[in-house]
Amino acid sequence: ESGVELVDAGAITTCTHLPYEPFQFQEGDEVVGFDVDVVDEVADDLGVEQKIVNTPFETIQSGEALNAGQCDLAAAGMTITDVREQNLDFSDPYFDATQALLVPADSGIDSAEGLDGLRLAVQSGTTGADYAAENIPGAELVTYEDLGLLLTAVQTGQVDAGINDNGVLLDFVAKNPELAVTTEFDTGEQYGIGVRTGNTALLDQVNATLERIQDDGTYDEIYAKWFGE
Ligand code: ARG
Repeated sequence: ESGVELVDAGAITTCTHLPYEPFQFQEGDEVVGFDVDVVDEVADDLGVEQKIVNTPFETIQSGEALNAGQCDLAAAGMTITDVREQNLDFSDPYFDATQALLVPADSGIDSAEGLDGLRLAVQSGTTGADYAAENIPGAELVTYEDLGLLLTAVQTGQVDAGINDNGVLLDFVAKNPELAVTTEFDTGEQYGIGVRTGNTALLDQVNATLERIQDDGTYDEIYAKWFGE
């Protein structure tokens, strides 16, 4: 007996915020991605299915969605931060990230200074939005609710550039060569899976699954599936 109690018996309910390709995004009427595969392993170890709830990232990172009982855990390419640790508990880190700059490939913009007086897209509630507010004072920040809207804004020239995590932006430019990632800001972030503060039974299970998949090669398979070699 794992002692894990679930908000919806028989399933592990995951809060996430779509789209955040390749971590979580819609393919047909299915939600797929790196995080989905990782949490499927947790579900397997518990002998249940995974059920996914799409909810604004602000309510995920603030702990609100977990505290309201919308879900058992949050898996959203979410960076572990001290502020967030006050409102939810994080698993061991499972992925490294850093902020990166997305621009039109022919723009010549490749630094924070190069953004002086230009419009920079940020995603609401994210570490990228915080980083830009603190470190890129010369840019006019334009906030978008999700990554899809941010990417479209850069693509259509509503903004001059966008900031977000390197994993999602590098994935996007590989498929959209008219855009480029010209610099990374070395923010040294790590993703964690969130649970309600004090839900140690579930947190222990998540950490045990993360350890198992690192040991048995499943993590590497999931990584190769979404990021190549
Ligand atoms: N890693 C960044 C953060 O934690 C962005 C995460 C956005 N995730 C999402 N599913 N929309 O702030």
